[in-house]
Amino acid sequence: MSRVVELIERKRDGGRLSADEIGELIQGYVRHEIPDYQLSAFLMAVVLRGMDARETSALTSSMVASGERLDLSRFGRVVDKHSTGGVGDKTTLVVAPLVAACGVRVAKMSGRGLGFSGGTLDKLEAIPGYRVDLSTTEFLAQLERIGVVVTGQTADLAPADGLIYGLRDATGTVPSIPLIASSIMSKKIAAGANAVLLDVKVGRGAFMKDLRTARALARAMVAIGRAAGLVVSCELTDMDQPLGFAVGNALEVDEAIATLRGQGPADLVKLSVLAGSQMLVHARAARTMAAAEARIRRALEDGSGLAKLRELAAAQGGDARVIDDPSRLARAKRTEALRAARTGYVKDLAADKIGIASVLLGAGRAKKGDPIDLTVGVVLRAKVGDRVERGEPYAEVHLGGRPDDTAALAMIADAFRWSGTRVLRRRLVLGHL
Ligand code: URA
Repeated sequence: MSRVVELIERKRDGGRLSADEIGELIQGYVRHEIPDYQLSAFLMAVVLRGMDARETSALTSSMVASGERLDLSRFGRVVDKHSTGGVGDKTTLVVAPLVAACGVRVAKMSGRGLGFSGGTLDKLEAIPGYRVDLSTTEFLAQLERIGVVVTGQTADLAPADGLIYGLRDATGTVPSIPLIASSIMSKKIAAGANAVLLDVKVGRGAFMKDLRTARALARAMVAIGRAAGLVVSCELTDMDQPLGFAVGNALEVDEAIATLRGQGPADLVKLSVLAGSQMLVHARAARTMAAAEARIRRALEDGSGLAKLRELAAAQGGDARVIDDPSRLARAKRTEALRAARTGYVKDLAADKIGIASVLLGAGRAKKGDPIDLTVGVVLRAKVGDRVERGEPYAEVHLGGRPDDTAALAMIADAFRWSGTRVLRRRLVLGHL
């Protein structure tokens, strides 16, 4: 029996593989010595049987070793953040400039949106001219010069992950905690920061629908990061309703700018302050969370976070005038308000429905590579617990005149559930590791 078959069978039967054996599989696959069908069988065995922490770390290390690993050690402590994604999550656009404004370098490689999960790169491209394809040389030079970079992942970082993800997508092997954790963390480790703040989203608008699986993913990622020598912590945060009010690329940039001007929605401000404070503590720029929070709040209030976003936009070729005058952002053809049929409180607001509606409007992709419309989306006027008077708008929909617009409007209306009596607001932060 061939060696590869023996390794697949061992995992199929619930056995463990050594780091060398996992390395053989990953390297063999990247070198095209192991065919798709054998690696797919192995991945399915992992989905069904799992991997322990040592195997998961070994899988991550072999994916990191498949490409370059940026060396940022000359910059001292460099921080990064990663969210598992959701609907309306524009936290990076707020936090990266805030942390950099506090003197801590932020090196972030982001992704594009897929399905109803938005992507930071798409949002940033709503700033006209903003480049998300910096070379490694440009990445390092910008990190040195202005202390913050937010760009796409370069092709030479963890190339095994891209290849394996393509296979997982086509073989029903995406939903596996060790596979997801190693995929995310291999890219974080290769990108070179020495401290990472993770945000695992939980709820209908997230990859992880319940707190138990979200916590398991968080634990797996934190363990991988620490085994690789990174300072790492993780927040578990609510994604059962969207974050903030805006969903859709240019609309989210507008909301991020408003937040850096001190006019952000309460949940986005809270999460940004929490994440930013953690990042300052990780970078040893503050000794306590209280001291870190005071600095982040100062950067919000004195405009230095906003100034850093302006600098970031300009450094990456974007039209920085947008930051001072968001009316320069491209706008959808038409807006339509959805109005409350009677006075009441929002009892429930389904993030998945809002996310699907935003894809129908054209703001997101049904499949990788689909074109998107940066201007369309939804601005919610009420979240769970808010009261809306009869006839007042609870959502403003930005439409591009597409065939699915009517279905999107119906989906947004259907995302809301109403109550005649007061409703408690949702808790935003559900846990911390
Ligand atoms: N995001 C990733 O980068 N990898 C996964 O496997 C799932 C989500």
